[in-house]
Amino acid sequence: MDIKDTYIKFFENKGHKYIPSSGVIPENDPTSLFTTAGMQPLVPYLMGAKHPEGTRLVDVQKCFRTNDLDAIGDKCHHTFFEMLGNWSLGDYFKKESITWSLELLTKKFNIDINKLAVTVFEGEKNIPRDDESASVWKSLGISEDRISYLDRSNNFWIAGNSGPCGPDTEIFYWTSDEPVPKKHDPNDERWVEIWNNVFMQYYMDEKGNISPLSQKNVDTGMGVERITAVLEKKDDNYKTSIWKDIISQIEEVSHKSYDDPKYTKAMRIIADHIRAIVMISGDDAKIKPSNTDQGYILRRLIRRTIRYAKKLEIDINSDWDIKLASMIIDKYAKYYNELIRNRETILEVLKTEKTKFNRTLEKGLREFEKITRHLDEDMINKDLVFRLYDTYGFPIELTEELALENNLKVDTEGFKQKFKEHQEKSRTASAGKFKGGLAGDGVIETKYHTATHLLNAALKEVINKDVHQMGSNITAERMRFDFSCDHKLTDEEKMKVEALVNKWIEEKIDVTNEIMSKEEALKSGAECMFIEKYPDEVTVYSIGNISKELCGGPHVKNTGELGHFKIKKEEASSAGVRRIKAILE
Ligand code: SER
Repeated sequence: MDIKDTYIKFFENKGHKYIPSSGVIPENDPTSLFTTAGMQPLVPYLMGAKHPEGTRLVDVQKCFRTNDLDAIGDKCHHTFFEMLGNWSLGDYFKKESITWSLELLTKKFNIDINKLAVTVFEGEKNIPRDDESASVWKSLGISEDRISYLDRSNNFWIAGNSGPCGPDTEIFYWTSDEPVPKKHDPNDERWVEIWNNVFMQYYMDEKGNISPLSQKNVDTGMGVERITAVLEKKDDNYKTSIWKDIISQIEEVSHKSYDDPKYTKAMRIIADHIRAIVMISGDDAKIKPSNTDQGYILRRLIRRTIRYAKKLEIDINSDWDIKLASMIIDKYAKYYNELIRNRETILEVLKTEKTKFNRTLEKGLREFEKITRHLDEDMINKDLVFRLYDTYGFPIELTEELALENNLKVDTEGFKQKFKEHQEKSRTASAGKFKGGLAGDGVIETKYHTATHLLNAALKEVINKDVHQMGSNITAERMRFDFSCDHKLTDEEKMKVEALVNKWIEEKIDVTNEIMSKEEALKSGAECMFIEKYPDEVTVYSIGNISKELCGGPHVKNTGELGHFKIKKEEASSAGVRRIKAILE
């Protein structure tokens, strides 16, 4: 049985529309580097925007969790994973969601209902206990003993600190060969969570205040790796059909066995990282290895893979990595067509970065020798370890290993501390960079900011009022503007939009701003992308009576300053989202 196919078909039969996975970089959330959950690309629709495919959706989303690469190497953590999800956008709610989940698990995945337990939200001051979910479960044959009522930390789901959220009900499967206990014990790890159904009916602001959303949604998430391990009865994800051929290939090129505990961890890391590398470099976002943001993660993944391949004594300069990447491309192309389109790019990225790393590795080894020749003690201090890490891309383990060979010690603790400080610094720097989602405040960028508001207003007028901004990005060369729209713009529509923006420019309209509370701003009808991202006091920019938007600015004083507006390109960005690239001449 193909789990993804079965899941998707099941929900298509229940009236859901299949939507392809969004890209690996979240379009709507400049604060995270990668998409981490299936709901992330759907936030605007959970908040009430109309999705062009309707109110019932099903998908499998490419997700990443890259905060802690050191966690990779055990039997169940992955940097890249796939999340199956079905969604109700103000359509069905708890009863249907729970009923269908149980139907899929017991009728299609053939799971014995007696091996299932669930948790529901126990309630707190302003949110009632989720008796509704519990009674649906009971009506379907789950006994009271198998229902645990848990607090917010377990059964209330939100991505990050603010946004759409709600109580959830989680489904657990008894993985052990021991007889299934009558009563569910949430602390017994033999009960493994396989599915999470979130009932997103609230919105939480940055202060933690909760208010009802305009619609009640369902957001479910099921990790493909986890459910596969459960259905194939494996207690090690890498022994499932997902990884089997990849691990065999690594065994072949290294002439070592996965079951030899000396090599298991390295093989898991290589398998996990190569798959993540393929998914990042094969995404249409065209991420390349670099020293910042997503590119830095990609670079680290490639370098770690090479390091662990060296540990397994794989011939680094052979095509072992190309073979592995090709297997992964073929395996995943069915759901992620972009991998086929970007095959050459993926292989090129691997090749180029390998060459670069080999070079830095040599330089680093020379530096290491130099450092160790001049040591006053038998310890490599934290600053030197950090220099090797930062400038020469030496992971701490490499330094430790080399030190051992030279009878030296390494100040690992000191390094970790320094590393943490460095991470915090760069996190703050990237938070600053992403502020407002727009780069640079130069004169030309300022003009583009204002042009964005005019374009937004023109699209609403020419297409319809349901057009909403979904993202934007500005450089000194051009502006990029993403908006919700269910069709490719016709030439006539593009011309009308262009003409309208230019008309407003020629009319030399004043751009004014006013500071007010977030609530007042919303009441005044001001447009905004994601209200939760704004502070309590916001600036509302108005362009005559054409446009009124919450915005951090900066803007020109008068539209007359903008010059001539020209659309260079209009294309699809993701499902139901179009993208315009435009310039000011
Ligand atoms: N948002 C929930 C999760 O990621 C359900 O999809 O677990």
